[in-house]
Formats: sequence, structure tokens, C-alpha cells
Amino acid sequence: MSQRTSLITGATDGIGLELARLLQTRGERPLLLGRKSLEELALGEHSAVFDADHYCEADLSREDCAESVTAFLERQGIASLDLVVLNAATGWVGPPGGLPGDGIERLVQVNVSSQVALTHALLPRLEAARGQLVFVGSIAAGLPAPEFAVYAATKAALEGFARSLREELRGRVQVQLVRPGATRTGMHAKSGLKREVIDWERFPPAESVARSLLKAVQAGSETLTVGAGNRMLFAAGRYLSTPLDWAMRKKQS
Ligand SMILES: NC(=O)c1ccc[n+]([C@@H]2O[C@H](COP(=O)([O-])OP(=O)(O)OC[C@H]3O[C@@H](n4cnc5c(N)ncnc54)[C@H](OP(=O)(O)O)[C@@H]3O)[C@@H](O)[C@H]2O)c1
Repeated sequence: MSQRTSLITGATDGIGLELARLLQTRGERPLLLGRKSLEELALGEHSAVFDADHYCEADLSREDCAESVTAFLERQGIASLDLVVLNAATGWVGPPGGLPGDGIERLVQVNVSSQVALTHALLPRLEAARGQLVFVGSIAAGLPAPEFAVYAATKAALEGFARSLREELRGRVQVQLVRPGATRTGMHAKSGLKREVIDWERFPPAESVARSLLKAVQAGSETLTVGAGNRMLFAAGRYLSTPLDWAMRKKQS
């Protein structure tokens, strides 16, 4: 049997990196995307995960990101993709007006526009394999949380895109959406949220979230919120005013 061809965005850190490592321990060689250079990754502790044949440097904040990815796939002679996990995202915790410079546009570009552009660019290869296209959302899409408004808006937009696309592509490509809850990755620090104010150590590690994500992919789940507690939180988000804040922040004694 020929090997599956998978592609993961945001594979240089957190959940995406753990997904890459999990697939590699199963004997697969997924194609990995990130904004870091291969030279930089070669100096890091996970250097063994990355090599020139399987790593594509593409910054999703750039409008030409999809062209870079297509050019890489052409160079590597990849004609079909069995699995694409659009996992890369960037966060922001703070009031919308607090984002520096063109920050709002950058967040929308990375979390929404680049996902749409990559979907469009990768579709012929996904259709060739009747493959699976997995979007990584967030429970933030359905939970009111102060200072998460811009990030939550991008994740809600992504959900809307995935839901309609699923119907458009039914029978040709399977569109799946996985919503992690708070996960112990570097994302919070990169988003400007100080570790002291959140229960970071209590969050599940990226490796266990990556495992749940892969399980959902294999089970063919159309939409999965990772973790029973997160499923309850997501449902409660329709009725309560600040459940995400309550779940993430350290309780005052
Ligand atoms: N952590 C959470 O609590 C949480 C909760 C719900 C949903 N999620 C979702 O889970 C997914 C993975 O997040 P994570 O927690 O694993 O975050 P993470 O550790 O920060 O990893 C995000 C990945 O995306 C990459 N990335 C960010 N901006 C990029 C850009 N402009 N171009 C290309 N790549 C870029 C990062 O690259 P660098 O290595 O260069 O930073 C990294 O590889 C995201 O979709 C996130 O929204 C996370």
C-alpha cells in the first residue's frame, strides 16, 4: 500500500509540532509548514523533525503564502494530498484597539484569509485523493470572553467557512473542524497573556490534544470539541457571560 501524504501548517510549535511527531512515530513523513527557516529549526531541540524535502517555509501573514506552498508541492512532485491540517494561527489577548500597527489585519490574514487561500490552492490535490481537510478552530469561537474579541471573531469566521465548505465539497473532500480548548502551548505568551494570570500548568499538554485531534480525523468526525469539559463549556457559552475567562484565569483565594 502506498504511503499517505499529509500536510500540517503551524508545525514548528505546540499542537502542530506534536501532530508532526505523532505521525512520524507512526512511520509517516508529513509535509510540514512554518514561518521559521530550516536553518533556525536545525538549531532547535526538535531539529530531527524537519528536513528540506518535507519542510516548506511560508509566512501565512503574507498574501503570497499559498503560492509559496503550491511552488513547494510542485518542486516535490506532490500531485495529491490525503490529509491537510490547517492548524497554524496567531492570537491576541487585549482590547481590539491595543493591537499594534496593522495587528488586526495580520490576525485576520493569518487566521482567516490565508486559510481560505490555502484551501483554494490545495483543493485540486485534495480532490485527487478524495482527502480530508481539517480546520483547527477554538472553543473561543463560541464563548464570550473579555479581551479575546478579535481572536474569537477570526475563529468564528473560520467555523462559518468550514461549515459551508463542507456542504460544497461533500463527496469530494471531507471537511472536518476540531476545536481545542485551552492547551499548554506557547500560544498564550505569544498572544500577550501573562502565565501568572492563567492556570497554564493545569491545561492539557499539546501532545494529548494532538492525539485527540488525530483520533477525530481517523473517526471521520465532522466537528469535535476536544475534551468533555470543553464540550460542556462550549455549550454553556450560549447562556453564560464569561465561561472562558472563568475556566482559564487563576482563581483568587
Ligand atoms: N493553545 C491553546 O490554548 C489553544 C486553544 C484553542 C485553539 N487553539 C488553536 O490550536 C492551533 C495551534 O495552536 P497552538 O496552541 O499549538 O499555538 P502555537 O504553539 O503558538 O503554534 C502555532 C503554530 O502556528 C505557527 N504560526 C503562527 N503564525 C504564523 C504565520 N504567520 N505563518 C506561519 N506559521 C505561523 C507558529 O509558528 P512559530 O513556531 O514561528 O510561532 C506555530 O508553528 C491554533 O489554530 C490555535 O488557534 C489553541
